[in-house]
Amino acid sequence: MASQPVSGPAARQGASDAIPAHVAIIMDGNGRWAKSRGLPRAAGHERGVEALRRTVEAAREIGIRYVTVFSFSTENWRRPTSEVSALFGLLKAYIRRDLARLKREGVRVRIAGTRDNLPEDIAKLVDEAERETIDNSQFHLTVAFNYGGREEIVRAAQNLAARVAAGDLQPSEITEEKFSTALDTRDLPDPDLLIRTSGEHRISNFLLWQCAYAELVFSDVLWPDFDETALRAAVTEFAGRERRYGAVTAGAS
Ligand code: IPE
Ligand code: IPE
Ligand code: MG
Repeated sequence: MASQPVSGPAARQGASDAIPAHVAIIMDGNGRWAKSRGLPRAAGHERGVEALRRTVEAAREIGIRYVTVFSFSTENWRRPTSEVSALFGLLKAYIRRDLARLKREGVRVRIAGTRDNLPEDIAKLVDEAERETIDNSQFHLTVAFNYGGREEIVRAAQNLAARVAAGDLQPSEITEEKFSTALDTRDLPDPDLLIRTSGEHRISNFLLWQCAYAELVFSDVLWPDFDETALRAAVTEFAGRERRYGAVTAGAS
């Protein structure tokens, strides 16, 4: 693969094969970051929001156009109520504080995940964030909140099944493309690069369908410490990969 610098002016010009269009991030390690400093876990989550702001800015600088972050999983309900409340509070504060700026800066905000069991105030804010930025297209920030890959796939299957039952859709019309349009990520390209921080090497139910051919990069950095340098390191690793999609290498005999 032709390599492009991932820093400097050429990088800022944007899309090339070496710059992933869509980066998905499992923002992990907030608890360990806090614990290592003798702080409550919530303090790690607070610093995690700052890392998110930094990372979105750095992504735009690099020329990435889509960032999707995992911020609360359907499995995270298993955590103590106080921690769940802190995480919900942080999403609310983030939208309230940052929405006007994101809107001004041309960012389209989407929230992936189920809204069925979300408190009403959060559901309203999430709708507002999407509505307010719907005309933006310079950069796409998707926050996966109350999100689980399996739950999303089941919900998509239920929607399609309901259309079949109503006579609007033939089972044979359910292709991969059609299925993709029933997912929360319907308007987004598949991620090119999936980064997980904190040294964990697993997907934890994130974007199971969409990451079929994503390049996986695992960073030891704890999420609250993640910054432009760490993002550029992941993009450099991505740029050195050869994506084959099941085919053979060009020029191989
Ligand atoms: C990621 O950090 C944030 C969420 C999962 C909500 P963690 O809270 O999982 O941090 P660790 O993995 O315990 O360090
Ligand atoms: C994944 O992290 C979910 C988010 C980052 C929101 P977890 O910390 O919940 O994942 P596991 O439990 O280590 O697999
Ligand atoms: Mg974790």
